[in-house]
Amino acid sequence: MAGKLIAIEGLDGSGKETQTKLLCEALSSRKIVFQKISFPDYESPSSSLVKMYLNGDFGNQPGDVNAYAASSFYAVDRFASYRRYWKKAYDRGDLIIADRYTTSNLVFQLPKVEKEKWGEFLKWLEDYEYEKLGLPKPNLTFYLEMPEEVSEQLLNERYHGDESQKDIHEKDCSFQHACRESAAFAAQTLQWQIIHCVENGRLRTPEEIHREMTQKIDKEFSAYAIV
Ligand SMILES: Nc1ncnc2c1ncn2[C@@H]1O[C@H](COP(=O)(O)OP(=O)(O)OP(=O)(O)O)[C@@H](O)[C@H]1O
Ligand SMILES: [Mg+2]
Repeated sequence: MAGKLIAIEGLDGSGKETQTKLLCEALSSRKIVFQKISFPDYESPSSSLVKMYLNGDFGNQPGDVNAYAASSFYAVDRFASYRRYWKKAYDRGDLIIADRYTTSNLVFQLPKVEKEKWGEFLKWLEDYEYEKLGLPKPNLTFYLEMPEEVSEQLLNERYHGDESQKDIHEKDCSFQHACRESAAFAAQTLQWQIIHCVENGRLRTPEEIHREMTQKIDKEFSAYAIV
């Protein structure tokens, strides 16, 4: 019996790690068996090409590596992680919680493709990662929608204003802006669950966002009853 996979997606600094952690704590306290994964898998040598890309080794602009090449760097890292760490758990029916997934290639690589070809790229990516590489498809994808100025501020706080800690995606405001548009396209086309992190001009607390997510999960998979 295949497991279930929940992907948590969003632009840089949108709170993916924060929400993944809260969700995992809720699952643990309900004694639900799950495995947490996160991408890129920086601990593993399989992320070497991703690290080189984000470090600017192939060029300082995200566009210096085309969408297909960059997507492949991320996809093979996922393949390695799947085969080494979580295929067994998934195959026996466990729940997998992913902080970023194949879905990140849509958010961050789609802006490099001409708009008329976005549908074509989306089909290519799904075929490549899910069919050709055989990676599991998420049952549910959350998209944390955080306004640009808020995520920028959260990231600056995290890096204590040290710009040099930012990677080539994070440094590039116009790229982040373009990613927002591609994320909206992917979210709509693939029916991701959009979570608005700012409501009436106020940044919601991590707990408020978490509650909305768990309610949606509960509705989708009542068996987990995590709310
Ligand atoms: N709702 C929130 N309210 C206030 N601060 C938040 C909220 N969500 C996240 N943060 C803070 O914002 C920063 C970025 O959050 P986090 O690391 O979870 O984002 P991320 O999406 O995983 O980032 P990255 O894309 O860089 O991996 C962290 O310092 C986190 O504590
Ligand atoms: Mg993170």
